[in-house]
Amino acid sequence: MTSILPHGGTLVGRVAEGAERERLLQASVHNKTIAINTWTISDLDLIAVGAFSPLTGFLNEQDYHSVVQNMRLANGTVWSIPITLAVEEEVAAGLSVGEQVTLVGQEDGLIYGVLDVESLYNVDQLVEAQHVFKTTDPEHPGVSKLLARPSTYVGGPITVLNRPQPAKFGEFYFDPAETRKIFADKGWRTVVGFQTRNPVHRAHEYIQKCAMEVVDALFLNPLVGETKSDDVPANVRMKSYLVLLENYYPEDRTFLGVFPAAMRYAGPREAIFHAMVRKNYGCTHFIVGRDHAGVGDYYGTYEAQEIFTNFTADELGITPLFFEHSFFCKKCGNMASNKTCPHPGEDHLTLSGTKVRGLLREGTCPPPEFTRPEVAQVLIEGMSPEASVR
Ligand code: ADX
Repeated sequence: MTSILPHGGTLVGRVAEGAERERLLQASVHNKTIAINTWTISDLDLIAVGAFSPLTGFLNEQDYHSVVQNMRLANGTVWSIPITLAVEEEVAAGLSVGEQVTLVGQEDGLIYGVLDVESLYNVDQLVEAQHVFKTTDPEHPGVSKLLARPSTYVGGPITVLNRPQPAKFGEFYFDPAETRKIFADKGWRTVVGFQTRNPVHRAHEYIQKCAMEVVDALFLNPLVGETKSDDVPANVRMKSYLVLLENYYPEDRTFLGVFPAAMRYAGPREAIFHAMVRKNYGCTHFIVGRDHAGVGDYYGTYEAQEIFTNFTADELGITPLFFEHSFFCKKCGNMASNKTCPHPGEDHLTLSGTKVRGLLREGTCPPPEFTRPEVAQVLIEGMSPEASVR
């Protein structure tokens, strides 16, 4: 069975093994070093395993400007989020193009990989913020992360020598080559990818299952990298996905695997990025609902869908499935959206995130029309003060 082509045509693989790894490890101790934080380690690993294909490293200057300005790499391939390595100016001043540097974990001192320096460049982060996040507001969580980094970037191809090890739920980490093989072995010709940074509530379940009616299977692919502090921690979410799948999803048509990337909160641009990455994992379809990867009111409800019109179906290579805002309608007695329900807003059950968090914190289950009781129970336990989360 032929599976969907990776973005750019080839699945990137930059994890060194055997003699090559030994050689690079020995050389790496003589290189200058760059300390990298957890976020950058996750980007590094995702590049190395091909989740960010066709990227082979951190963006060089030419690709960076092209991505920021045009949502494309310099060769024209669609790419909407700059994946960059920021270093302090003093560190950059000591580096030269053509040399190899060693990437060392800031916290654990471990050698994660090496980078061949291709370009060293200064950027205007406010320009980047405006293009990528559509705002320069430092209150925006993505902008605030961006502005906290140095504005000198190092670009070039990377090679991973030691992979980051998950502290928990290791059995749900799969590289794109593995998910592609699993989907093929299961005989799935069409697989819809679902990005989430939240517990799966009934609205999420509804749009997933609408999609499952028309494709072979669902790849539930929660993001478990860095998120903002008021998002539900990944450990708690993982437990909630497991009880949900066990109770409400067909085992032979559902697959759970994590996406160990950081959340950017870049709304529309991140929707494109999320879709390209899921293509690399082997998905043929990708769900984009209301305010995908959004935060606050920085983006219009359907902007993350509209942005797809900038690209042709061939350029994207994965089919986005768009869903309107979904809710439980008391008159219909089922989940619906304005596309399928004729009743006015007062018949719809809508609960704000703040309201739901408040209920869970005080130990009260939200209505079952909003969240499955098994999921609510896990969230209540996970959010109780005694729970050791993260
Ligand atoms: S996201 O930041 O990962 O996009 P979230 O986990 O809430 O946030 O959303 C996952 C996916 O479900 C996104 O595609 C989002 O647009 C969609 N979604 C979330 N809630 C709804 C809803 N009530 N109606 C329709 N789509 C929704």
